[in-house]
Amino acid sequence: QLYHERHRPQIHFSPKQKWTNDPNGMVYHNGTWHLFFQHYPDSTIWGPMHWGHATSKDLVHWQEQPIALYPDSLGYIFSGSAVVDKNNTAGFGKNALVAIFTHHDPQGEKEKRNNFQNQSIAYSTDEGRTWTKYAGNPVLKNPGITDFRDPKVCWYEPQKKWIMTLATKDRITFYSSPDLKGWTKESEFGKELGAHGGVWECPDLFQLDDDNGKKVWVLIVSINPGGPNGGSATQYFLGDFDGSRFAPVDTNTRWIDYGPDNYAGITWSNTGNRKIFLGWMSNWLYANIVPATTWRNAMTIARELKLKRTGNEMYVASEPVAELKKIQSKPVVLHNIQVQKSFDVASKAGKITFPARLDLNFEKNSDYSIVLSNDAGEEVAIGYNKAQQQYYIDRSRSGQTNFQKDFPARHVAPRLSKAGSMDLSLILDVNSVEMFADSGLTVMTSIYFPTKPFTHIRIESPENVTIKKLTVSSLKSIW
Ligand code: FRU
Repeated sequence: QLYHERHRPQIHFSPKQKWTNDPNGMVYHNGTWHLFFQHYPDSTIWGPMHWGHATSKDLVHWQEQPIALYPDSLGYIFSGSAVVDKNNTAGFGKNALVAIFTHHDPQGEKEKRNNFQNQSIAYSTDEGRTWTKYAGNPVLKNPGITDFRDPKVCWYEPQKKWIMTLATKDRITFYSSPDLKGWTKESEFGKELGAHGGVWECPDLFQLDDDNGKKVWVLIVSINPGGPNGGSATQYFLGDFDGSRFAPVDTNTRWIDYGPDNYAGITWSNTGNRKIFLGWMSNWLYANIVPATTWRNAMTIARELKLKRTGNEMYVASEPVAELKKIQSKPVVLHNIQVQKSFDVASKAGKITFPARLDLNFEKNSDYSIVLSNDAGEEVAIGYNKAQQQYYIDRSRSGQTNFQKDFPARHVAPRLSKAGSMDLSLILDVNSVEMFADSGLTVMTSIYFPTKPFTHIRIESPENVTIKKLTVSSLKSIW
């Protein structure tokens, strides 16, 4: 095991040292999952951004690689994406990896110019090990929009062109290109739709199959602030995209994750029909001031996205990738557990060691609360409130919480599923919970900082609920 620091995630990616925020440039290529990330290698607080780099063969175990992109005369390296240029459209080589990112010029920002964010590219012909910035950067110049960033590029096969989905302040702007070097504006979307409590950032555009095998386009847009539980969060739209315009199916605002700690997430490119998402497990409300030692912040686990229908509504559901099973111990499976007020999971399942995974099935909608605790009297409660039809995660007494006023809180999320029965999966690391309710229809992610590790799990219910099936497994450190 590589990492022993207090609060160091054991099943999540975090950099060996110093600061990280958004995941960047996620691309699958020749059996390797690439994860680049916003990184400042000189401090545990945000600063001049680089692209750090990590690789994985299985989406679970990560190896940190040398820094891929350093700031230069055009500015810091802000968020962006990467593609495999199969047809050598850019002329950097067949199957070259091309990164498309924002150059952020701090001097221009200081002088209050309005064109300090521009889009640039870099390429790698050695499996992402070394990167060359294109001599003609920037490839997309800023027309005078202060927030003009986070390009996500995909190949649009019907018209054989690249599409760039760009966050442009309070809307998305789509551009197209034959070669990743010259870009033409196609359209704008969203000025009058969706949540607008803050600036739009880190978009993504891709297709998923609905339950009839019909393709639906998904447009992901992160927003900061303005999330459903305050601060940063990620909304999405369902619709159609014709190579030029995104037409939404309705005017609903949907959220990828209702919890406070899943931001700037996007999907890997070049994965065929599978769509794998990963986000930054923090929130700009407190990302710079959470308790930290040698590094600060981490990513969520990789999640598979699928379209699911409930009643007449369609949603993007997220579930932990199947690969997570690789680190899962043989589970203890318990049936028909009667919760008489409070049930100590260890009493039937044996001693719980964290990280862990819990899967619960309830026959009917019930009030319950799953409480993680330690000997210091600190707790995190995850549960469901039947009267309000809301899931919640309460971290108000979770240990160190007073570094920011909004951190100690009970966060809620609507139950979207119309099903009579309920299921819940919890992925518990030493300082985070990822809750996937109703097969991933309602998702919440939350971090916390207990002064001593959590060691106990109990389940409480005021209504003597029966848990049809409870599965408990420990998860092996990925480091
Ligand atoms: C989102 C974000 C992006 C930007 C990056 C800078 O968290 O603000 O919009 O590119 O972080 O680090």
